[in-house]
Amino acid sequence: MIAEIEVSKPEQLIQTQFDLSLPVYCDANRVAQLFSNLLRNAVSYGKPGEPVIVKAITTNDTFTLSVINKGEPIPAEKMAKLFQPFSRSEENKGQQGLGLGLYIAAEIAKAHGGTLTSSSDNKSTKFTLEMPVR
Ligand SMILES: Nc1ncnc2c1ncn2[C@@H]1O[C@H](COP(=O)(O)OP(=O)(O)OP(=O)(O)O)[C@@H](O)[C@H]1O
Ligand SMILES: [Mg+2]
Repeated sequence: MIAEIEVSKPEQLIQTQFDLSLPVYCDANRVAQLFSNLLRNAVSYGKPGEPVIVKAITTNDTFTLSVINKGEPIPAEKMAKLFQPFSRSEENKGQQGLGLGLYIAAEIAKAHGGTLTSSSDNKSTKFTLEMPVR
C-alpha cells in the first residue's frame, strides 16, 4: 500500500510520517484512491507554499491516515455537507472536479469498516481515515 501511496504522491511540499508496524488488510487500490482524493484536495485547496502533512500509523489494530493542510478554515455550513455527493461549492464551480472526491473517500472508508472525519480551524484543515487493520 505504501507503494501505491508513493506512486500517487506529488514531489513537492509533502511531509510524510509513516509508522506502519502492522499489516493492513484492505483493498489497496481503493485505499490508494481515498488517499489520492484527500491529497489532491489538500494540494488544491490548501495554502500555496505551506507543506501538506501526511501521517499513516497503525496502533491497537487501527490504521489511521491523516492529511493536513493550511489555509482558510472550511465554513461550518460547508463542513456539514462535505461528504455528500456533488458538494462542490459555488465559488469553485469554474475549476475541474465534480465534488465527488470526499463522498467516494467516505464510502471507501465505510466499506473497510472505518470512518472518514474532518476538522478545520484557523490553524489547519485535517481529514482522517480510521479503520481496523483486519
Ligand atoms: N483539504 C481541503 N481544504 C479546504 N477545502 C477543502 C479541502 N478538501 C475539500 N475541500 C472543499 O470541499 C469541497 C468538496 O471536496 P471534494 O473532494 O468532495 O470535491 P472536489 O474536490 O470539489 O471535486 P472532485 O474531488 O470530485 O474532483 C471542495 O470543492 C472544497 O471546496
Ligand atoms: Mg476533490
